[in-house]
Amino acid sequence: MTLKKKPQKIAWWQPKIEKENYTFLKKALDSNYINEGPQTAEFEKAILKLTGAKYALATNNCTTAMFLSLKALGIGPGDQVIVPDITFIATANAVSLSGAEPVLVDTRKEDLTMDPLAFQKAITSRTKAVIPVHVSGRSAQIEEIMAIAEKRNLKVIEDAAETIGSYRKGKHLGTFGITGCFSFAANKTISTGQGGMVVTDNEEIYLKLRPLINQGRTKLGTGGDDVHNTIGFNFRMTDLQAAMGLGQLKHLNERTKRMRRNYELYSMNLGNVKGLRIYPADTKAGELLQWTDAFTERRDELVKYLVERNIDCRNYWMPIHRQMAYKMPDDNFPNSTYSSPLSLWLPSAFTLTDKDILKVCQEIKNFLLPR
Ligand SMILES: Cc1ncc(COP(=O)(O)O)c(C=O)c1O
Repeated sequence: MTLKKKPQKIAWWQPKIEKENYTFLKKALDSNYINEGPQTAEFEKAILKLTGAKYALATNNCTTAMFLSLKALGIGPGDQVIVPDITFIATANAVSLSGAEPVLVDTRKEDLTMDPLAFQKAITSRTKAVIPVHVSGRSAQIEEIMAIAEKRNLKVIEDAAETIGSYRKGKHLGTFGITGCFSFAANKTISTGQGGMVVTDNEEIYLKLRPLINQGRTKLGTGGDDVHNTIGFNFRMTDLQAAMGLGQLKHLNERTKRMRRNYELYSMNLGNVKGLRIYPADTKAGELLQWTDAFTERRDELVKYLVERNIDCRNYWMPIHRQMAYKMPDDNFPNSTYSSPLSLWLPSAFTLTDKDILKVCQEIKNFLLPR
């Protein structure tokens, strides 16, 4: 009897560990200094080179990167910070951690990013900042948001968690606001397991950020000679994590090329399929989608159909206003309430092949198109 081999699952996302990861990790281990050290500094420099920002600070994740940005800007209890209703909840949680109040605003149906008009309407005398989110690596309406913020004297902190390698008109996402915050979690293009980075062009903010991640120290002493002029915390990255990032950056070009190809294949093959809309990407302006996302009124049925065929998808986040932690009535959020339950992320791993993506497209057509 021959055993039928189970077809390999088409992954929604999959991290990849190449040999360079072992090389950099060995270097950290051999040094016998695995805390924040030379590889963390090298990783910060590499992100500066990629983004074109002036200063970078490696952190233990993107949630703390956003919290630290707020803290460095002096934002806290009594203040309000505007965040979009569709995002990973970390955006709102970072605001809560600072003691400020996250104020949710509606998103745009066409691309699920913050609605600039809703942002403008939500500004009060207590508003101090706004955190636009570049959902799936797609730029928020950043110029419009920046213009409103400038007029109302508000700071812009970009949630650029999903944007490594994504540009808007030649400028890397995360470099428009006063700070930009990146994530290196396991489902990101470059992953350090957990990890984050704040970038800024503002020296004053950078000089405030540095001691904030390190118990208020500007430099590491031996304990007895440590100087703590300000209150700080421990939100540092370690060289073990940075080694992972440095190893993977060696493969950034081939990764982003594959991600571009994934989006291109989905757009070409599903662009005209009735009943499904691929959310847009301005690829000519340099936008790179971390994951290709789509809208269909038959989302739940489609996801079930694909999963049954060994194709992994992800439902979009529930709008934050529907989570118990930040519960609000639906009335103020007509777009996010409508869009989120009908949106999904298609398989987008950089480990996929053309054949995999074409199979996904064919199965989606089999499901949606009448036969
Ligand atoms: C849009 C968005 N914001 C914030 C985060 C939080 O990042 P981290 O898990 O690194 O704290 C993530 C990712 O997990 C994200 O996708």
